[in-house]
Amino acid sequence: MNEPYIQNLFAERIGGREYGKSTAIYKFEKIKRAKRAALAAHPAAEILDLGVGEPDEMAPGEVLAELHAEAQKPDNRGYADNGDAVLKHAAARYLDRVCGVPGINPDTEVIHSIGSKAALSILPAAFVNPGDWVLMTTPGYPVFGTHARYNGGLVHNMPLTAGKSFLPDLDAVPRGVLAKAKAMVLNYPNNPTGASATPDFFARVVRFAKSHGLVIIHDAAYAALVFEGKPLSFLATPGAKDVGVELHSCSKSFNMTGWRCGFVAGNELIVKAYGDVKDNTDSGQFLAIQHAAAYCFDHPEITERIAAKYSCRMAALVEVLGRAGFSARKPAGSFFLYVPAPKAALPKGGARVEFRTAEDASQWLIGERLISTVPWDEAGPHLRWSVTFTAKDEADEARVLRELANRLGNVFFEF
Ligand SMILES: Cc1ncc(COP(=O)(O)O)c(C=O)c1O
Repeated sequence: MNEPYIQNLFAERIGGREYGKSTAIYKFEKIKRAKRAALAAHPAAEILDLGVGEPDEMAPGEVLAELHAEAQKPDNRGYADNGDAVLKHAAARYLDRVCGVPGINPDTEVIHSIGSKAALSILPAAFVNPGDWVLMTTPGYPVFGTHARYNGGLVHNMPLTAGKSFLPDLDAVPRGVLAKAKAMVLNYPNNPTGASATPDFFARVVRFAKSHGLVIIHDAAYAALVFEGKPLSFLATPGAKDVGVELHSCSKSFNMTGWRCGFVAGNELIVKAYGDVKDNTDSGQFLAIQHAAAYCFDHPEITERIAAKYSCRMAALVEVLGRAGFSARKPAGSFFLYVPAPKAALPKGGARVEFRTAEDASQWLIGERLISTVPWDEAGPHLRWSVTFTAKDEADEARVLRELANRLGNVFFEF
C-alpha cells in the first residue's frame, strides 16, 4: 500500500519518515494497558492506584468561587498575552512570604505560565542552538530536554542516586559537555525521588553556574508541598537571581492540574526572553484563571492543608511498605515515595518470580496484586508510589492502606 505523501514530510525531530511506525510501547502506556488487563481479568476488583502523578481532590471551593466571580468580568474576556499585573504581584508576594525571597520586581521579574510544562517547553527556544548541551537529571521530568533536542540541542543526563541524596554530582559532568553547556534544569522537591535540596547544594549550583556560564532553571512544581519547615526556593540562594529562574505552579500546590497556571520568576533577562518566546507561542492563560491563581498564591494555607494530608498518608504508606520489606523513608516533601524495586517476589504458596527491572516488578504488582506504581530504571530500579491515591475521606484512606497491606502481606519480596 502506498504511504500518503504526508509520511515523508515529518521533521526528523519527531522521527522523520519513520514517524508513527515504531511499535515500542512507552512506560505510561504499558501501565495503562496492564491496568486494563488486570481489570478485565478481575472485573469486580479495585485497582489500588498509587501511580497517579496528580492530586486526587478538586481545587477548594473558595478558589472555584474566585474563578466564578472573575469569569463574569468583561475585562477578563480577551487575550491575556503575557498577563496583567494581578498574578505578577501575587507571585512576588508569595515568593517573599512563603519562599523567603524578598524584592522580586513583579513588573520585570515575573511572567505567568500556562503551567510549568508549558514554560519548560518554551524556555529551550530562548537558549538552545544546535550542538548546545543542556544538563538534566535522571530520573526526572523530561520536557525541557525534549524541547532542547527539538532545537538541535544535546542532553546530558545527571543520575540521581540515594548515595548522593538524589542530588546531581556536578563534578561528574564531563568537561567537553560543560564547555558547550548552556542550561541546567533542577527540580526539588523532586519528581520522582521525593528528595529535597539543601541551601548548601543550591549555593554550590550558583557557583557552578557562574563558573561555567550556565542558566539554571529550577522547576519548583512541588515547592510548597513540604512536610516540615518552610519551602526551600532556589531564588533564596544568594546570587541565584544572577543565574536563573524558578518555575512555580498551581497544579500540585493548589489541586489545579487542569487549570494550567503558574509563573516563571527570577533573572530579568531570562524572564524577558521567556516572555518574548511565550508571546509568539500562546496568547496567555484566561485572566479569570490567572486571577484565581493569584488568589491562591495569597492563600498559602491552602497548600499547607494539602501538604498536611499528604504527610499523614505518607507516614502510613511508609509503614505499610516497610512491613512488606521495602526500604521506605518518609521524604520531606512532594507526594512521591521512591523505593528500590524488589528483585523477586515469593507469594505464599506460589512460585518465585524474578524481576530484571523495576518495570517487571511494577507489571507484576499490577497483574498479580492490582497495585499500580510507576517504575523507574534510569538510575537503578525503583518504584514510585504516590500518596495521591483516590479515597473519599480519612476512613476510606485507612481502608485503602489496609487493603494495600493485605495485598502485599502474603508475599515475600527479595531486594
Ligand atoms: C517535575 C514536574 N515539573 C512540571 C510538571 C508539570 O506541571 P504543570 O502542571 O504546572 O505543567 C510536573 C507534573 O507532573 C512535574 O512533575
